[in-house]
Amino acid sequence: MSLTPRIAPSILSADFAKLGEDVRAITQGGADFVHVDVMDGRFVPNITLGPMITEAVRRSTDLVVDTHLMIVEPERYIEDFVRAGSDYVVVHLEAATHLHRILQRIHELGAKAGVALNPHTPLDGLRYVLDELDMVVVMSVNPGFGGQRFIGQSLRKLQDLRRMIDGIDREILVEVDGGVTPQNAQEIAQAGADVLVAGSAVFKAPDVAQAIATIREHAQKGMAARAAKQGA
Ligand code: DX5
Ligand code: ZN
Repeated sequence: MSLTPRIAPSILSADFAKLGEDVRAITQGGADFVHVDVMDGRFVPNITLGPMITEAVRRSTDLVVDTHLMIVEPERYIEDFVRAGSDYVVVHLEAATHLHRILQRIHELGAKAGVALNPHTPLDGLRYVLDELDMVVVMSVNPGFGGQRFIGQSLRKLQDLRRMIDGIDREILVEVDGGVTPQNAQEIAQAGADVLVAGSAVFKAPDVAQAIATIREHAQKGMAARAAKQGA
C-alpha cells in the first residue's frame, strides 16, 4: 500500500484550445498523473480523443500518463497508445473478451496495465488476473462524461477491493475515477484509493494548483486514517 495519495487530473475538463498550457499548469501545480480519457462513441456515448492527443500530452509533461480506454475492442489500439507515450494503459473489464491476453500484451509493449470497472461490475473478474495487474480503476460515475456526481456505493467497492489485494505480493494501485471533490477525497482515500482522478474539481477551479493541493490534503488524512486502522 502506498502511503501518499496520487492526484490524477483528467484532461477531459481541460481547455483543448490550450491543452499544452493546461497540462503544464497541473505539472507545475503538483499533480502526479495526467489522466487521459479516451472515448469511442460505442463503449460510451461520447467521443473524445485518440493517440495523437495522447502524444501531445506526453510531449507537454513528465508526469505519469494514465490512459483510460473507454472503447470497445481495446486490443486493437493498445500498441498505438503505448507508442503515444502512455505509462499506464487501462482497459475496461466489460470491453475485454480476452482480458488476460490484453494485460500481457500491454506488459510486452513496456507499459503498466490497468483494468477499470463500471459501477455495477463486481470485482470477481479480477481475481484470476491479479498477477498481471498494476492498477484497478473503480469507476465512481457511469463513464462517458466529466462533472457527474460521485456514486456513494463506490466506497464499499473500494473497501472490498482493498481486502482483495492487500497482502498479495505485488503492488497494485487503486484508482478512483469520477465525481472526486475536495469534500469527498478524505472518505475515498480512507475507503481504499491510492490515486484520485479529478477532472472538473481541478480544471474548473479558479486555481489549479490550489485545487490539487486541497484534494491531496484531504486524501492524505483519509489514507493516514486507513493506515492507522490497519496497524491497530
Ligand atoms: C468519466 C471519465 C472521468 C472523468 C472525471 O467517464 O473517465 O475520468 O473525466 O471527471 P470528473 O472528475 O469531473 O468527474
Ligand atoms: Zn477516466
